[in-house]
Amino acid sequence: MKITVLGAAGNVGRRIVNEALSRGHEVTAVVRSADRIHELSPAAIGQTGDASNIHDIVRLSTGQDLVVNATRSVTSNAEEVVIVTETIMEGLASTGVRLLIVGGAASLTVPGANGKKVIDDPQFLAPSLRHIGEASVAQYEACRGEMRVDWSYLSPPADLKPGKRTGQYRLGGDEMVVDSQGTSTLSIEDLAVVVLDEAETPRHHQTRFTAAY
Ligand SMILES: NC(=O)c1ccc[n+]([C@@H]2O[C@H](COP(=O)([O-])OP(=O)(O)OC[C@H]3O[C@@H](n4cnc5c(N)ncnc54)[C@H](OP(=O)(O)O)[C@@H]3O)[C@@H](O)[C@H]2O)c1
Repeated sequence: MKITVLGAAGNVGRRIVNEALSRGHEVTAVVRSADRIHELSPAAIGQTGDASNIHDIVRLSTGQDLVVNATRSVTSNAEEVVIVTETIMEGLASTGVRLLIVGGAASLTVPGANGKKVIDDPQFLAPSLRHIGEASVAQYEACRGEMRVDWSYLSPPADLKPGKRTGQYRLGGDEMVVDSQGTSTLSIEDLAVVVLDEAETPRHHQTRFTAAY
C-alpha cells in the first residue's frame, strides 16, 4: 500500500512509519520542517507539509491508498485541532483517499460508570490535562457526521507510552478497553500494529474504535 503519515516525526507517527515499512508498504512520511527529515527512516519518502494547509493535503494524498493523521498541536488547542481535522477531511474529500486518525481517549466512556467519559474521570485524566482532553473531544466531534470521506478514528487507551511490540491487543468501540485491574494501557509500538492492521484490513468506516491489552 501507499501510505502517507502526517506527524511522522512524532512519538506515535514515527512508530507507525516503522511498522508500515516493516510490512513492506511505501511510506510518505510528512514533517512540517525540513530540519526533521533526517529523523525519519531513510526507507521512507520524506516530505514537508502542513496538515492545516489544504493544498499540502491534496498534494500529499493524491495517488495514495491511505492517510494516517498522527499530528498533535503543541498547545493541544481545540480550535487548532478542529481546523487541522476539517482541512484533512476537505482535502481527502477531493482526492478520495481513506483516512485513519490517531486521536485521543477523552471521549471514550468508562466501563461500568453509567456513561461517564474518560475526560470526566480523574482516575484516567488528571484535571490539569483537561484542555488536552477537550481538544481530542473536539477532534472526534469534527469527524462525526463527515460522510464524504472513508475515515476511522482510533482512540488510544488512557495510558499510551513507548514500550515493547507484542502484537497483542483487544479492540473496542466507544467504551474504553480495560484489563482485569481496571487499567487501560498499550505501548505505542502496539498502537502502530493496530493502525497497520486496520490499514491492511479495514473494519471501521466512519466510526471510532479503540484498543488496549
Ligand atoms: N492517551 C491518549 O489519548 C493519547 C496519548 C498519546 C498520544 N495521543 C494522540 O496521538 C496523536 C500523536 O501524538 P504524539 O504523542 O505522537 O505527539 P507528538 O510527539 O507531539 O508529535 C506530533 C507531531 O505532529 C506534528 N504536527 C503538529 N501539527 C502539525 C501540522 N499542522 N501539520 C503537520 N504536522 C504537525 C508535530 O510536528 P512539529 O515537530 O513540526 O511540531 C509533531 O511531530 C495525537 O492525536 C495525540 O492526541 C493520545
